[in-house]
Amino acid sequence: MDRTPLSMSPSPASSLLYRRLADHYLAAIQSKALAPGNRMPSVRDLMRQHQVSLSTALQALRHLEQGGWLEARPRSGYFVRQARRQVLPLNDESSLLNPTVPMPAQYVGIHERVSEVIAQGRKHPVTFDFSSATCAPELYAVEALKNASIRALRRHPTVLTSMMSHNGNQAFRQVLAKRSLGIGIKVVPEEIIVTHGCIEAINLALRAVAQAGDMIAVESPTYYGLLQVLESLGMRALEIPTSPRTGISIEALQLAVETYPDIKAVVVVPHLQNPLGSIMPDAHKARLAELCEQHGMAVIEDDSYGDLVADTTSATALKAWDRSGNVIYCASLNKVLAPGMRLGWMIGGRWQARLEMLKFAHTRANEEWAQIAAADFMGSSAYDRHLRRLRETLRGQCERTAEAIATHFPAGTRVSMPQGGTLLWVELPQQLSSKTLFEAALQEGIKVAPGLMFSNSHRFDHFLRLCCGQPFSPHIEQGIKRLGEIVGELLHKRSKVDETAVKQLVVSG
Ligand SMILES: Cc1ncc(COP(=O)(O)O)c(C=O)c1O
Repeated sequence: MDRTPLSMSPSPASSLLYRRLADHYLAAIQSKALAPGNRMPSVRDLMRQHQVSLSTALQALRHLEQGGWLEARPRSGYFVRQARRQVLPLNDESSLLNPTVPMPAQYVGIHERVSEVIAQGRKHPVTFDFSSATCAPELYAVEALKNASIRALRRHPTVLTSMMSHNGNQAFRQVLAKRSLGIGIKVVPEEIIVTHGCIEAINLALRAVAQAGDMIAVESPTYYGLLQVLESLGMRALEIPTSPRTGISIEALQLAVETYPDIKAVVVVPHLQNPLGSIMPDAHKARLAELCEQHGMAVIEDDSYGDLVADTTSATALKAWDRSGNVIYCASLNKVLAPGMRLGWMIGGRWQARLEMLKFAHTRANEEWAQIAAADFMGSSAYDRHLRRLRETLRGQCERTAEAIATHFPAGTRVSMPQGGTLLWVELPQQLSSKTLFEAALQEGIKVAPGLMFSNSHRFDHFLRLCCGQPFSPHIEQGIKRLGEIVGELLHKRSKVDETAVKQLVVSG
């Protein structure tokens, strides 16, 4: 392939240079000029051929590696990865995005559907759990967190017998405020309210900006926990079409605002949306912040997965575009640090005082022990190392699960390929009902999350969400293989039933 120096603009931002270098090689990989198994030029060659610095060359290679295009082999350098056995077609955008049809806001009656699925799942012994959006405990910094917790008790022997600090532990809030700068949020520690996970933050935010009967715009499909919260608060959900790549459709939201001028708030997950895994481009974040401000709709930003975004340059919070305190930022450590600590937090914008009151009225301040331990660990460089390792591990797990789906599921299956996180959104062939699959798979100890949980409509009944939070192993592959076989068997059974029905029609006709 052509390895002439890249034509660089006169003064390119060095942060983008690595992307251009990576794109140059990506084009070569995609055109097969660099074939699977080929060795990439060494870092030194890249520096010489493209006249770039060591860090730019390294960043470009890591970027391609994170995207699944290269693999690093110890002491041998980077190689183009073997083509995934079959690359599954991505979910079809056009069927999911239809900005001309704003769906009417609905009372969220999802509780029974979700509760039934959860109850059914609990009744059966489970050998393969692909259903919950969590990681295996060993993927977290088990030892370091244990030590930090013991240290916290030693240094604060009365922490369990003292009253908690109002709104949260100061050292913890300081760490959070400092880290927020990295995603474009300038906040003082006193403006951070520590919560019991992101779900409490969302509950409080909704209570602050709306009341029973009000209409709230949500992504479609959306995290079922949000639909449960809306239902419990008596609010109505207006489902806005959402792209598996770029998140909520701003055009559809604009149309919805024109149709329903009384939408009180929009709840969005800009990074690694659950279940789609989409990431909103910065331009969309800016447009969304502006649109909502113009129309007097609050934005509730749920950033539960921000720290899992593979390319950290895409993880700037929507809150960074907030000019008037219209965005309530909600986040959590439950996916990225430790599910067992149940730590979340929020920044309330112009609803800060009301949120502080609601938090106090609702649950009082959080327990302090976990906050002190988290501050200890997050304040050290070990936290960033942990995050890098976790992102890398999850990327491998998701890729290998997607490969297993490509290998073992029937033709016509489609899947999202998110740039980070643990979730794959799978579209079943021939509109096969994921509820039927859920029930059949559960009989064999395989648990998945059927698409019907993620919308108040039935538009996603033939989708399922698979979580790749467990280390990939022959055991996991066996579970995916069996799941794919069950899909095949259900399709076969259905076609037999259809055949019989046609024959009966012909006979009776
Ligand atoms: C998008 C989203 N928001 C909120 C939550 C709940 O977060 P937490 O466990 O921090 O309360 C989840 C959990 O899966 C989620 O996926």
